[in-house]
Amino acid sequence: MLRVIHFSDPHVSVSPRSLPLRSLRGKRLVGAINQMVGRGVKHRAAEMRLAALQEFQRTWQADALVCSGDWTVLGTAQELEHAAKVLQPLRASAPSFYSVYGNHDDYIVDPEESARVLARFDAWLPTAWSADHAWPRGCALGPDAYLVALNSVLPRHSPLDSSGYLDSEALGRFAERLAALAETYAWVLVMTHYAPLRSDGKPDSPRHGLHQGAALDEVLQTVPGAVVLHGHLHHRFAWLGSAQTVPHFCAGSLSHAGREGFWSYEIAPDRLRAQGMRWSGDKFVNDPQQSIELRR
Ligand SMILES: [Fe+2]
Ligand SMILES: [Fe+2]
Repeated sequence: MLRVIHFSDPHVSVSPRSLPLRSLRGKRLVGAINQMVGRGVKHRAAEMRLAALQEFQRTWQADALVCSGDWTVLGTAQELEHAAKVLQPLRASAPSFYSVYGNHDDYIVDPEESARVLARFDAWLPTAWSADHAWPRGCALGPDAYLVALNSVLPRHSPLDSSGYLDSEALGRFAERLAALAETYAWVLVMTHYAPLRSDGKPDSPRHGLHQGAALDEVLQTVPGAVVLHGHLHHRFAWLGSAQTVPHFCAGSLSHAGREGFWSYEIAPDRLRAQGMRWSGDKFVNDPQQSIELRR
């Protein structure tokens, strides 16, 4: 039995007042103001929730921790460095840790900054499938489960546009290899930051959702054992659709006040049990409304 913890969107931050002025360019200036008046308040317990997750892990002993991105708020070098430091004890608490990055980590349109974000996350991303392409990436989590990481972040100029995008060439490379993966592994977990669908099964808005999300589901719908893991939407939910569609698990946000939580998965060759975890006020506990079993 493989145990996996899936969390997302911890949004660790440093005070925008401590950031060098030159780093507050592009939409970061608007983001910094937003952080001071809203987002920073919502996530002010981020470091405490990470510590509580580590406490849960101490007893639950997951084999792997996976994070679907948005470690930070403004994606500055200072914030990413701080988040990496804060996450270090949690990362070290499991035999393996994998993470994609979110739109708040790769935040502004600047190819040099995007390259730095990819380099910083390199140690936490699964292995790239080829030297020529950064995506997709993947690795076995155990004999029954394989984790695929797909990037869905494309930095945008407008502070009003926080939509994501799946690159069709990366999706094509993924589709080519998917049948072989599904033959070897009972479960193929596909992790990306953005939500292909909302909790009602409909696509998110054009300014907040995932462009090409339907293409991902099209690739996956013929594959038994495929599951999508994502974040970005700060409500934890499972979208199970129908027998012909692929289950989606949104981990919500580990630290968004009032909505804190994550998913824990117990994976065997013939079943995947997903348990939603919610914040009780002093620790993470099972959410009885979110206990799901998928069968192969
Ligand atoms: Fe987020
Ligand atoms: Fe996000």
